[in-house]
Amino acid sequence: MVQVKKLKVEAETIVETTPNGPLMVYGNVTIKDSKGSLTKKNNVTAFCRCGASSNKLFCDGSHKKIGFEG
Ligand code: FES
Repeated sequence: MVQVKKLKVEAETIVETTPNGPLMVYGNVTIKDSKGSLTKKNNVTAFCRCGASSNKLFCDGSHKKIGFEG
């Protein structure tokens, strides 16, 4: 079971699934990786959904090369 932490959200963030492409997040976000390192991203962030990115967890455009559908 996945545990969800309660966080205070101060601004609206929009998440969009693009056809055959990345998960787009519009807003300022802080990403915490499995080792606890934090990365801040502002305005727009593209997260890889296809698994082919060489810069996981971010999209690097590889979904086009592999013909990702989803
Ligand atoms: S979705 Fe773009 S590289 Fe995976």
